[in-house]
Amino acid sequence: VEPTAFRKLFPIFDERVYLNSCSQGALARPVQAALEEFMESWHRQGNPWELWCERMEELRAEFAALINAEPDEVGGSGRGAPAGGARPRALDWSDRPRVVTSDFDFPTMGHVWLAQRARGAEVAYARAQGDRLPLEAFEAELDERTRLVATSHVCYRNGFRTDLAALAELAHAHGAPLLVDAFQSMGTEPVDVKALGVDALVTGTLKYLLGTPGVALLYVRRELAERLTPTDTGWFGQADPFAYDVHHLDYAPGARRFQSGSPPVPAVYAALAALRLLREVGLDAVRDQVRALADLAVAGLRQRGLDVMTPDDPACRGPLVMVRCRDVQRLIARLAERDVLCSTRDGALRVSFHHYNSEADVLALLSGLDDNIGLLAPASAGTRDQEE
Ligand SMILES: Cc1ncc(COP(=O)(O)O)c(C=O)c1O
Repeated sequence: VEPTAFRKLFPIFDERVYLNSCSQGALARPVQAALEEFMESWHRQGNPWELWCERMEELRAEFAALINAEPDEVGGSGRGAPAGGARPRALDWSDRPRVVTSDFDFPTMGHVWLAQRARGAEVAYARAQGDRLPLEAFEAELDERTRLVATSHVCYRNGFRTDLAALAELAHAHGAPLLVDAFQSMGTEPVDVKALGVDALVTGTLKYLLGTPGVALLYVRRELAERLTPTDTGWFGQADPFAYDVHHLDYAPGARRFQSGSPPVPAVYAALAALRLLREVGLDAVRDQVRALADLAVAGLRQRGLDVMTPDDPACRGPLVMVRCRDVQRLIARLAERDVLCSTRDGALRVSFHHYNSEADVLALLSGLDDNIGLLAPASAGTRDQEE
């Protein structure tokens, strides 16, 4: 599916330039149809839980195929939290108390591990160096007491993209598995968890996976999953939920053991349709489109002498680009008046690209910035010198 044909599936583009997929992906007609199918099944059948649970199984298999895992290595949950989804209470901190996360992670990532301090965990942060989080920043925090490295693929607040293969190798050299928060990358490029050596990965489906809020997907390498005993569990984490056995714990094999309650059915319907749509497009094609647009945006911003917070090196960024502002709220309002929808973090303008975006979208953004240039921050003399 070519970007222009793909775009036609998303009615928002009839009226707007949508550059906020990093918060919520746009709604595609087939995803809307899946949500309507869910409602119809409810109308007509009242209580088709068997069908609804089957949809959850299909979603697990579809996501497994997307990341080159086995369906048994994927669990789905109504909890989106990046580390919450990974069930930190399954981890034993007694011999290896350290978890290494980073300055560039989403707040929940810090919160979940900080809450584990009550169970003996020690939280260390790989420190950002300017707009980057180099491998050495992780290396400085890793030791033989490290239980886990937990960080994002793409940073939500400046778009820095971590080299997962290199980080996995580094973590493994210290005997620690790598858990990846892929909320800001999944759906924008191929991710092969086996080839990358990633041990666990969690993502919501609401952003570039083009689903609704409400469901998170968790991959855990089978051998690792089966060494863990979740204490945060429930009937859908059991080998046979429909055994209705209140007296025993009988964990499901693989990553299904990290599930707890019944699946968030509407979100599952939406995610399944969205993942199928992305499979038709192919993530190689999405990556090429997203890279081309991000390159165009970064080049345009730099040409204007603006203070781009996203790394210049295309290998170190994904779909998200940020630029410093003097008055971001006013800028966002001005852009919205022109039907260009963006978001903000840290007082900076945040834009993000997907397969449905076009060069014309980037040009609409840049012309909106040209007309409001006083609301943006110029690159500092120091930054400009480095570039020259
Ligand atoms: C990197 C990252 N992780 C996680 C989340 C969402 O986490 P939660 O499901 O806890 O809302 C987001 C959403 O903005 C995100 O950008």
